[in-house]
Amino acid sequence: MATNHLLVLAGILVATCFVAFASDPSPLQDFCVADTKGPVLVNGFACKDSKLVTADDFSFSGLHMPGNTSNPVGSRVTPVNVAQIPGLNTLGVSMVRIDFAPWGINPPHTHPRATEVLTVIEGTLEVGFVTSNPENNLITKVLQKGDVFVFPVNLVHFQRNNGNGNTVAIAALSSQNPGVITVANAVFGSNPAIANDLLAKSFQTDTKTIDWIQSKF
Ligand SMILES: *[C@@H]1O[C@H](CO)[C@@H](O)[C@H](O)[C@H]1NC(C)=O
Repeated sequence: MATNHLLVLAGILVATCFVAFASDPSPLQDFCVADTKGPVLVNGFACKDSKLVTADDFSFSGLHMPGNTSNPVGSRVTPVNVAQIPGLNTLGVSMVRIDFAPWGINPPHTHPRATEVLTVIEGTLEVGFVTSNPENNLITKVLQKGDVFVFPVNLVHFQRNNGNGNTVAIAALSSQNPGVITVANAVFGSNPAIANDLLAKSFQTDTKTIDWIQSKF
C-alpha cells in the first residue's frame, strides 16, 4: 500500500519534471543580458554586469526588411534570438521573420527546443506538421493574412507560399535559442555522409538514388 503510494508519487514527480524541462528554465533575476564573450560556460550565456546594460542590449532593428529568397527553396528566415538580442538570454522566447517567394517553401524541419506560433502578415501560406510514430498524422491548413498556427515543440513541420505573390510571416518561439534541424540536410547532407546503403534501406530505394540526392546537399 505505502509502496504503491510512493510509486505513484514518484511517477507524478517524474511527469512534473518533464513538464518543467519542456521549455527554457525560468530566470532567477530581472534579466541576464548575455555576456557573449565571457569565458564562463553555462546553460545559455553568463550575465553581463547589470550596471553596464543599455537599451541596445534588448533591441534589434531591421525586421521590416524582406529577406533574400533567391535560393533553391525560395524562402528566407531572419532570426531574432539570443544571438541578435543578448537581453533574451534566460528569458525563454525568440522570434523570426520568414519571407517566401511565390511557391517558395520552408522545408520540413524541427525545433528541438521550442514550440512555434506563427502569423501570416502578407499573402497566404500552406502549413503543416506530422505527429510522432506510429500515427504520423499530417495536420495541415492554408492560412490567410492574420491567421495564426501552432507548431508543437519537436514535431516535423513545413510551410509553402501557395500563391503568386510574396508571403511574409512572423513567428514566436518558446526558447531563446530554438535550434533548427532541417530533415533533408540532416539525413542527406551530414558531414561526413551517412552510408548510402544504410539510407537506401531506410528509404527503400537503391544507392544510386541516394548518391544523387546526397549530391544536392
Ligand atoms: C540575393 O541572393 C542572391 C543569391 O545569393 C544574390 O545573387 C543576390 O545579389 C542577392 N540579392 C540581394 C538584394 O542581396
